[in-house]
Amino acid sequence: MRMTVARLLSVSVLLSVAVGCQRNQEVPTVPEKVVGHCVYTNQFSDLRECRDYVGEWTDKAATEDCKDQGSTVVLGSACGEQERLGYCFLGEGNQWTRISLLGGDAEKCGSMQRGCEVFGGGVFDPAPICGGKVVDTGGTGLPTFQQPVLTCMDPKPGELPGMSPGGQVCTWEMISGATEPGRSFMDYASCDRVRTQRPYYPVPPAENATREDARLNDPAYVTELTWVRSQIEATACICCHSTRAPKGPSNWFVESPGNFINSFYPRGLAMGAGWINTLGFGAYRPEHNNGFSRASPERPNDSIFVTTDAVRIARFFEAELAHRGYKREDFADQVYGAGPLDSQRLYQPTACEDGVGVGADGIVRWRGGKARYVYVLEQGTTSPTVPPNLDLPEGTLWRIDVPSTGTPIESGTVRYGVVPPGLSQRFPASGEPATLTSGKTYYLYVLADIIVPITRCLFTAP
Ligand code: HEC
Repeated sequence: MRMTVARLLSVSVLLSVAVGCQRNQEVPTVPEKVVGHCVYTNQFSDLRECRDYVGEWTDKAATEDCKDQGSTVVLGSACGEQERLGYCFLGEGNQWTRISLLGGDAEKCGSMQRGCEVFGGGVFDPAPICGGKVVDTGGTGLPTFQQPVLTCMDPKPGELPGMSPGGQVCTWEMISGATEPGRSFMDYASCDRVRTQRPYYPVPPAENATREDARLNDPAYVTELTWVRSQIEATACICCHSTRAPKGPSNWFVESPGNFINSFYPRGLAMGAGWINTLGFGAYRPEHNNGFSRASPERPNDSIFVTTDAVRIARFFEAELAHRGYKREDFADQVYGAGPLDSQRLYQPTACEDGVGVGADGIVRWRGGKARYVYVLEQGTTSPTVPPNLDLPEGTLWRIDVPSTGTPIESGTVRYGVVPPGLSQRFPASGEPATLTSGKTYYLYVLADIIVPITRCLFTAP
């Protein structure tokens, strides 16, 4: 039997009494290997948590521990990226439990830390929302989001002239970006930038991905498969869904032996078919992206894949789901597929507290630490998320950005409408923002980084 939470709890309470002081331990460096994960509700806090079994766990031990949490283990994969307040690390040496404390409410940071350290006997590693550093911690943390740039260059030797002026090939360095059809994204854009725009870490492919697949003898099928692969090759997806990704591929990958489509889980296929809504990931218009687009507010049921032919790619993934015995109804409970990007976009703010907002002196005050992005929005504006099309919603009055190489700014150091030195004003494109009307309600949205909101609430202009 593994130690249950209750036992762990009593032991660690004794331990901290014996030590008799608040420890401030360093965050441990844990092995990269993840045996499996467990999603459950913490019996004490009643909050959702996910724990990774890291290092030298046997399948059996992980299975039993998860059972102790009242849930069922998922072997072979990690918790994955979710909105979280931080990690709680328990363990030592080669065997660790890394608990993701899920949620996005910065007010819970303190109780989470106490729960982890005082009652759990663990080490709390705060996410940026709880004051943690925004640094690349080797695949589990978040590097600073680098905004997309359009890169233009001459075609590779032996390739045809490009479609842009001077025969150049122009490519947005962004997750939703694509180079020209028939070319490889990696030849024309920096994947390093792309890998700051979404957490990158290796994830194993679906089980039995390398099975024999008789469809590879069907020329019509192979034509479609080859086309899908070449579409993916032209897009930024290849930055993580390929053996060329620095730490190995994230789940499905184009070089997966046999039929690479077998490396997908059904959920991924359903996103490919547009059965799960993925507009939350953001998209370019085809005219700005070498003819490629994907699900967007204008076309919400398009594929997650960035493609020159939305109908053709959806048909391919629908056929794959039918082949595996799935129907659209099987995904009816999964309306949106973009996780924290959806929950943040659909977030409904409540009133600001404790002087947060724009004061009578024009000073902007927020909570939760230093910021890279500050927005003042009309009340009722959709909350901003990711570029290129979801980060400047209609209703934005003012937005200022700290460049990715710049130093984040403190609350109380910005006056509404005045761009601090070193920052840039993204909206309005030039000139001063609209004056705030006294007595009217506005929406303050402040981010430690893209997808890391620290303050989002409604204030009344003084
Ligand atoms: C910066 C890295 C990165 C990039 C770029 C990237 N992905 Fe992913 N993707 C991941 C990771 C990591 C996972 C696995 C998530 C997990 O299981 O925790 C994933 C998983 C997926 C899945 C499977 C989801 C599921 O639940 O089965 C799909 C589908 C997917 N990505 C599509 C895309 C598409 C389409 C693109 C390009 C438009 C893309 N990805 C670009 C990192 C990336």
